[in-house]
Amino acid sequence: MSQDFENRLFPVLPSVIQHFGTPFHILDELGIIGTTERLCSVLRRACNLYRNFFAVKANSNPEVLKLLFKLGMGFDCSSEVELVLARRVGAVSEDIFFTSNNTSARLFEVSRADGGCILNLDDRGLIARVPSPFPQFVCFRYNPGAQRVLDSVIGNPETCKYGVPHEQIVDAYRQAQECGATSFGLHTMLVSNERNWECHAETANMLLDVAGLLEDGLNIRVRFINIGGGLGIPYRPEDDPVDLERLAVAITQTLHTFASKRGWRPRLCSENGRYVLGPNGVFVARCITVKHGYREFRGVDASAMASIMRPPMYHPNGGYHHITVFESPVDEPVVCSVVGPACEDSDRFGWDRMLSLQEGQHVIVHDTGAHAPEMGNNYNNWPWPQMLILRLDGRVDMIAPAQTVEELVQRRYQYLAPQRSFTP
Ligand SMILES: Cc1ncc(COP(=O)(O)O)c(C=O)c1O
Repeated sequence: MSQDFENRLFPVLPSVIQHFGTPFHILDELGIIGTTERLCSVLRRACNLYRNFFAVKANSNPEVLKLLFKLGMGFDCSSEVELVLARRVGAVSEDIFFTSNNTSARLFEVSRADGGCILNLDDRGLIARVPSPFPQFVCFRYNPGAQRVLDSVIGNPETCKYGVPHEQIVDAYRQAQECGATSFGLHTMLVSNERNWECHAETANMLLDVAGLLEDGLNIRVRFINIGGGLGIPYRPEDDPVDLERLAVAITQTLHTFASKRGWRPRLCSENGRYVLGPNGVFVARCITVKHGYREFRGVDASAMASIMRPPMYHPNGGYHHITVFESPVDEPVVCSVVGPACEDSDRFGWDRMLSLQEGQHVIVHDTGAHAPEMGNNYNNWPWPQMLILRLDGRVDMIAPAQTVEELVQRRYQYLAPQRSFTP
């Protein structure tokens, strides 16, 4: 959470809590605009036509998508609903990057409906499954295999399920050419929450090597390289932010070297979600129980699994969100876990934190704008909390209501309708 966001939010937080009740996610519109503008202005030094396709999976709230589209972003979608959501805010055709894997025939049809999209294929085997006419413009997701040893979240390239292996990539483009494609892009997505700029620079370099292979082998000049998402954010107070400036300098040099050798250069794209939204959202919940067991526990009025799935899912190897207490301390801090009510021991927002937290006080869980509410589930039937946004003019809008008990109960009962029965 930036100091600016804190300065904007904290003075009004008591009245927001009083008006909307807890728990809630709250996003910072000004912060989202600032982060977007900075990302784009710095990377446009490397390529003046740089565009980020916001990964809808990071936060698919329509108000968020509307704002980002207005700011010039496209969308990276990887499911039918994400395509629908992107199109609803006005994205069409090359505003949408569609990266699916294990793609069904239905999904191919949906991807080309309503103005289509940039189709990004994950496998050579999918070429024959693309409904005809085959798109003139197509892209492949490249997987470098053992050449890169990277990420524990997405998986090491050699063992993860995504992308076209190095040995198959030229053939994939050749097959697409044979099907009638004349224009191409090149994509990869290798890391998650990576704050080392050199890793992202290396990815750009790697894609340019592949672009060279495609030109040498097939006379293809890819229109763009998409280096994927995965720009990291400092979840821990001691973490350094990714050095965007150095990344831009490195990519500028790599593109320059490529252009001097070949006389052309592709455009640069990315599909960052976390970097854009993560730091521009926090989660607020009220402490409702204090437990002195074998360990100390502070219970809040929200399930972590329903609201911020990252800690339960990735602990102890990741998923850290910093937690602070909004009110001033009334006693000495103790080492405690901040827990939700779900019947699952990992339903925790944080393990062993040094906090002074009493019943009735509020926790601020930092950096929850991306991949946090989005991954929430209804395990144990705990509802998703509401989502709010702090607007530029100081207004606070609810942009997603909390799920209600009635909604969750009704969902179970819908399946009992007699017309759903079938006697074979
Ligand atoms: C294909 C693809 N693109 C982009 C992203 C966005 O990643 P991030 O939000 O970490 O930038 C993801 C995340 O998992 C992804 O799978």
